[in-house]
Amino acid sequence: MSATNLFDLTGKVALVTGASRGIGESIAKALAAYGAHVIVSSRKAEACETVVAAIKAAGGSAEARACHIGELAQIEALFQAIESTHGRLDILVNNAATNPYFGPILDTDLSSFQKTLDVNIRGYFYSSVHGAKLMAKNGGGSIINVASVNGVIPGDGQGIYSITKAAVISMTQAFAKECAGSGVRVNALLPGATDTKFAAALVQNEAVLKRLMPHVPMRRVAQPGEMAGAVLYLASNAASYTTGTCINVDGGYLIG
Ligand SMILES: NC(=O)c1ccc[n+]([C@@H]2O[C@H](COP(=O)([O-])OP(=O)(O)OC[C@H]3O[C@@H](n4cnc5c(N)ncnc54)[C@H](OP(=O)(O)O)[C@@H]3O)[C@@H](O)[C@H]2O)c1
Repeated sequence: MSATNLFDLTGKVALVTGASRGIGESIAKALAAYGAHVIVSSRKAEACETVVAAIKAAGGSAEARACHIGELAQIEALFQAIESTHGRLDILVNNAATNPYFGPILDTDLSSFQKTLDVNIRGYFYSSVHGAKLMAKNGGGSIINVASVNGVIPGDGQGIYSITKAAVISMTQAFAKECAGSGVRVNALLPGATDTKFAAALVQNEAVLKRLMPHVPMRRVAQPGEMAGAVLYLASNAASYTTGTCINVDGGYLIG
């Protein structure tokens, strides 16, 4: 492998969940720019088609596939479709997550609790199971789990969400250990506060930013595109000896 093509993804098939906007969209576009065929997935096919069109307009290759990551039957159908269409999967980015409840942890209602677990833990888990099995058939691949700094330091009013992100970090390590033998690497990205629809209540609220920024050495929130480089690294041969790790892209927040 020469140093000039460390990040080349030509011939690779990549699935990015939650890729219709925000961090997932920027990851999908970066993987496509480096040569991967990208399956752009979210609940809304139309929104995914818009991202696919942008990728194609930039000279890349992509397709849209709708999938609700909280629905097991839809996950199964997605991976069956990928296998029958492409016969392989090289890169899986588990990125689609939910955070339906902000507030005191003691008041978390059961339906928000269940929904958060279904998407953020069960969805990542079964996508990883299907992804790792398909990758193993072709000698391996790379799974990247988008977790969060909240998986290390729970976010204020985001108790159940933070718990699920801690589980994703543990899931990353458990899969990394067991899947290394089949050539599947598994790593996590831990974004800090990033300017997306998901985090609008935080990053567009002056009072919240005033409380948060003293704890962020770089004194600003991230733009979604700033998450893509770490994922590109983990997806590519540049990370051929990297598994079970977390990359913090958080402006220094987790330094403490
Ligand atoms: N923004 C932050 O500050 C921040 C910080 C740390 C970690 N993160 C993590 O980064 C990831 C992406 O977040 P984001 O900020 O980019 O959010 P976003 O801009 O709101 O995008 C979320 C994406 O996920 C899709 N989605 C939502 N629920 C889904 C479901 N049940 N099944 C399938 N797709 C679903 C959405 O599309 P549809 O509506 O079409 O389904 C959309 O494409 C998440 O894992 C989040 O926890 C974000």
